[in-house]
Amino acid sequence: MAAPPAPDASKATLLIVDDEEGPRQSLRIVFKNDYTVLLATNGMDAIELVKTNPVNVVVLDIMMLGLSGVETLKEIKLIAPSVEVIMLTAFETIETARQALRHGASDYLNKPFDITTMRAAVAHAAQKHRATLEFKRSNDDLQMLQEALEAHREREARARNTGEIYASVLHDINGPLTIISGFVERLNRSMANAASVEGEQLENIKGDLNRLNSQVTRCVEISRRYLSFINGQSSVRSYVAVNQVMSDLTELLTRHPSARGHQLTVRGLDPDVTASIHGTDFLQILLNLTINALQSTAEPHLVKVTCHRRTEPIAIEKIDETDEQRVINRETFSNQPPLLAIEIEDSGPGIPPETLRKMFEERFTTKPPEHGTGLGLSIVKRLLREAGGALIMQTKLGVGSKFTVCLQTVP
Ligand SMILES: Nc1ncnc2c1ncn2[C@@H]1O[C@H](COP(=O)(O)OP(=O)(O)O)[C@@H](O)[C@H]1O
Ligand SMILES: [Mg+2]
Repeated sequence: MAAPPAPDASKATLLIVDDEEGPRQSLRIVFKNDYTVLLATNGMDAIELVKTNPVNVVVLDIMMLGLSGVETLKEIKLIAPSVEVIMLTAFETIETARQALRHGASDYLNKPFDITTMRAAVAHAAQKHRATLEFKRSNDDLQMLQEALEAHREREARARNTGEIYASVLHDINGPLTIISGFVERLNRSMANAASVEGEQLENIKGDLNRLNSQVTRCVEISRRYLSFINGQSSVRSYVAVNQVMSDLTELLTRHPSARGHQLTVRGLDPDVTASIHGTDFLQILLNLTINALQSTAEPHLVKVTCHRRTEPIAIEKIDETDEQRVINRETFSNQPPLLAIEIEDSGPGIPPETLRKMFEERFTTKPPEHGTGLGLSIVKRLLREAGGALIMQTKLGVGSKFTVCLQTVP
């Protein structure tokens, strides 16, 4: 095997494989000015050279001692599939040449070869090889571009999700914060003029501090729930006693600014039942729905929250979607009794069809910016879906609206 000449980057590399000195040397002379020429006297050496050099074109004698031309061709194509191989045939039948073509040879020429034909064949093969490489390169570029685009899309989706979650956390924490600031204000007022605090006043302050504390706990609990949601921790099934949630709801709403001037009643269950939902989520759902009911009009009106046990499946599939009613999470609802239906009814203005269609879209609100974020109902939908619950909405313009939360309970 001749020592390979120093590679010239501007030239294509041509490997000539022939066990006869004559044709090997004459080919070298023909091509040495235009190509970096490598020589091999047998198949094994040729394979070695393809492994260690950037070979573009091979001229390969079909009839050689040792590894045959076709065997060598197969090996070369395995190592470097894009290399163009021209077979040199002498006494072989046309059948052997065809076999070579089947194994990926790009052309075959008869010995003794004519220089012009040989030049044209090698030039054509070199050009084909360049085109193949370029195609592969642009294909790789395209794939990289696609991957970059895909990664970008994923990043964007994650950012959008995170943004929504931040907005939801703020929405949920805003409730307890409003109450906390109310208590702080009241505490400040009752302490402002007192030199010392005792008796009934002291008891009141202790009570307020307790309520303050439970609101702070709620904030912590809300952020913990969101954190586990962001971290993708699958939530284990949670349960809560319904009457406890009802009394928390009453406690929170009687002090809520939106309740002022309206008549609110909350009625629990006797006997109590256990709902299969996390307590914080349950309270959040009821708060969002009840506050919406209280805010349905500034005119004094009634808002009633009542709980009902259901021992039969709820006929949710019979409820048509119309201008006056809708069902949310119909498909994911676990409709297996014993069930719980909590109705939140208001004697407000009712909901126009256009709003009824859009109200569960994120950021849809008909309220001025200082009152509405449009997040409340999308949070209700998500939390209910996670708990396998559903929501039925019924409304009549000029009469009011009823939202029924459907949940599974523990038998
Ligand atoms: N009980 C209701 N009566 C009338 N309209 C309602 C009622 N509940 C919800 N809506 C309508 O649905 C919209 C979306 O509600 P929501 O997602 O809680 O966002 P927000 O309360 O911040 O506007 C409200 O702006 C309102 O138009
Ligand atoms: Mg709302």
